This record gives sequence, structure tokens and C-alpha cells, in this order.
Amino acid sequence: MRGLAVPGHDGPPDNPDLKSPVTSAVRARAATVAARHRRTSPVRFVWLDGLGRGRLARMHFRRLGRSGLKVSELSLGAWLTYGGTVDANEAEVCMREAYEAGVNFFDNAEVYAEGKAELVMGQVLHNAGWRRESLVISTKLFWGGEGPNDQGLSHKHIIEGMSASLRRLRLDYVDVVFAHRPDFATPVEETVRAMDLLIRQGKALYWGTSEWPADRIATAHAFAERHGLFPPVAEQPQYHMLHRDRVEREYLPLYDSIGLGTTVWSPLASGLLTGKYNEGIPEGTRLADPQLGWLREKVLVAGNLEKARRLTAIARDLGASLAQLALAWCLRNERVSTVITGATRVEQLRENLGAIALVPRLTTEIVWAIETILDNRPAAS
Ligand SMILES: NC(=O)c1ccc[n+]([C@@H]2O[C@H](COP(=O)([O-])OP(=O)(O)OC[C@H]3O[C@@H](n4cnc5c(N)ncnc54)[C@H](OP(=O)(O)O)[C@@H]3O)[C@@H](O)[C@H]2O)c1
Repeated sequence: MRGLAVPGHDGPPDNPDLKSPVTSAVRARAATVAARHRRTSPVRFVWLDGLGRGRLARMHFRRLGRSGLKVSELSLGAWLTYGGTVDANEAEVCMREAYEAGVNFFDNAEVYAEGKAELVMGQVLHNAGWRRESLVISTKLFWGGEGPNDQGLSHKHIIEGMSASLRRLRLDYVDVVFAHRPDFATPVEETVRAMDLLIRQGKALYWGTSEWPADRIATAHAFAERHGLFPPVAEQPQYHMLHRDRVEREYLPLYDSIGLGTTVWSPLASGLLTGKYNEGIPEGTRLADPQLGWLREKVLVAGNLEKARRLTAIARDLGASLAQLALAWCLRNERVSTVITGATRVEQLRENLGAIALVPRLTTEIVWAIETILDNRPAAS
């Protein structure tokens, strides 16, 4: 599908200093927010505007829920990119740039490009030769192929799927393995025991769930506790300005009771929250892909577009891009352990990394202005 290009979209905004007319009271509040976000020691700095013109910002690390594992607050994933639209060279450039900026968490899944995404990531990890201890690599199991035992969360598929993923990633272990969806045809106890076995075998260090209902996570956790097994430590849910319910309402009881962490996905709603679809569908973008009509129909709806247009104005007033504002908005939520970004080009990644420095500048006034536009705050949040 072809559509209108949006001139000037791809670069970050012109005002690199991100100055805004803030009062001293507002600055003081921003400093408090900033202090909350200086949770752990920084290792690297990223440029705020993604082009090396703006302020330097630190990458922060957050604990993955109650576990001791520390993940960079921004991370990088491989869905619809590696092994597909993004060639191996660009993937390597992006992963190297991310790593240099302090990203330690890289996300994948056995199903991404039918295993090719893991092959690409495995090759980059091999080429880069980074210290294994400096990385947090995750993959997800559920859709491993066409056969009756290549899918789901049976003991058989979890053990076999993990071995195949490790071969493709060229790793001895992943740091986190996620159950990519709930499997209602397999007893949850069987899945918990299989995940526990992966950890005891040293093939994974932690496990989590992805898009599981809260009650099933609680059941899995309680079973693991009762039997002295490794419990799930994190969920991987969709979370962005236009999709909030699970993270902000459904999982609320789990954060404190079981110490659930979250590695949230599609923070830019597949690109809608960059503003690049505000005036049409630019050629070569994800939502222009004829094979992704299902995604386009879900995301590119009139209400969402109107919100994106109005949010773009708020970002502009801050001297930031909408992508940076949308990512910073996710980072503001302390229940979020890491925000998994996606990028088809290194320029996107650079711009997105600039979101980190925007977080402390999201004052109460700005957050309320955003809430007014979104008008979708879950009742219990
Ligand atoms: N657990 C799950 O079920 C699940 C599901 C989905 C994703 N995930 C994970 O979450 C990761 C991120 O998800 P996502 O890729 O959907 O994230 P996203 O941030 O919502 O979308 C990323 C896409 O938006 C566009 N984009 C990103 N930054 C941009 C910028 N600054 N300017 C313009 N366009 C920009 C790029 O697409 P184009 O350039 O092609 O337009 C990019 O590939 C995935 O890689 C995966 O690891 C998990």
C-alpha cells in the first residue's frame, strides 16, 4: 500500500536543547521525578535528541520485578524487523548502537521470522563478542512450527523449543524465557515444571509470561511457591498510551504480592505514536506493509490518529518528538521494568534513546495534559 509521505518526520525536532517555559515549582517537581528515576548507577550516556546535539542522558537500570536481575530501562526487540525487513547489517548497526548506549536487554522469540530473527541476533552477538555477563537476552516460546507438538506450552515443546532457540542464538543460555501466550490446553502446572527444569538445567536463568491473564499468572506463581519451583518473575504485555488496561489495572494486585516485573512491548503502537501516520501512510513503513493489514486495521483507527495529532503538539512544545514523548510516558510508570523498542533504522533507535532524558521533564501538568487527550485511564489506576 502506498500513501503520503510525512515531510521531516524521520529526524528529531529542531530544538535540541529541549527548553520549555517551566516555573521553579515545576522544576522542583521535575527534580523529584528525576530522583525517583536515578535508581541504580548509570553506565553509559545517550544523546537526548538522538543526533548528538542535545543534552546527555544516562541509561538507568531497573530490577525485573522482585528478581535481582537488572535490565536497561530501554531495550531492543526483533519483531517484524530482524530476519525480515531489516537486513543483517542494519540489525548489527542497531544492536551495537543500543549496546553502546547502555542497552543490555535484547528480546526475541522462536516465532519471529520463523526463527530467522534469532539467527540474526545470534550472529550479531557472535560478531560483537560482548561479555555474556553484560547482556540480558530473552526469547519466547509458544509458536515453534506447524506440528502438533511444535506449539504451546507442553513440557515437550518447552524443552525442545528452548534447545532450538539456543542453537539459533548461538548461546548456552538465555537470561529470560517467556511463555509467549497462555496455553489453556496444557495444565499450567506442567508449564511451570518445564520452565523450572529449564532453569535447573542452566538453559534459562529466569522465566516469565507474555499476555497471560492475571489470575493464571497468580496460579502459576502459587504452584511454584508451593512446590519449591522457580516462579515467573515478569510479564511481557503490550503497553503504550493507547493500550493501558492490563498494565495499569489487571496486573495491579500482582506487582506487590508476587513482585511481578514487566517488559512492555509496542510502546509506539507500531509507529503510530511517532506521528508519522498523522497525515497518511508513508511508503516503506510497517503499517504500509500489505501483509500487515490486520495490524493496520487495529492501530490506524480515527480516534487513535486524532490523539496522535494532538500529542504531537505537546511533544513539539517540549522540543521533543512524539516517539520520545510516548516512550518517556511508558518509562514514567515505575511498574515498567523495561520498555522494549523496535527500530528498522539506526536513526530511529537514536531518536528513541533520547526519550530517557525527557522522563524527568514530564511534569504533573504535562502528564495531565496527556491524560486529557488520551481519555482512557483505567478506572483502578
Ligand atoms: N510479547 C509479545 O507478544 C510481543 C509482541 C510484539 C512485540 N514484542 C516485542 O516488543 C518489541 C517492540 O515492539 P514493536 O516493534 O511493535 O515496537 P514499536 O516501538 O511500537 O514499533 C516499532 C516500529 O515503529 C517504527 N519506529 C520506531 N521508532 C521510530 C521512530 N523514531 N520514527 C519513526 N518510526 C519509528 C519502526 O517501524 P517502520 O520503520 O517499519 O515503520 C519500528 O520497527 C518487539 O521487537 C518484540 O521484541 C513482543
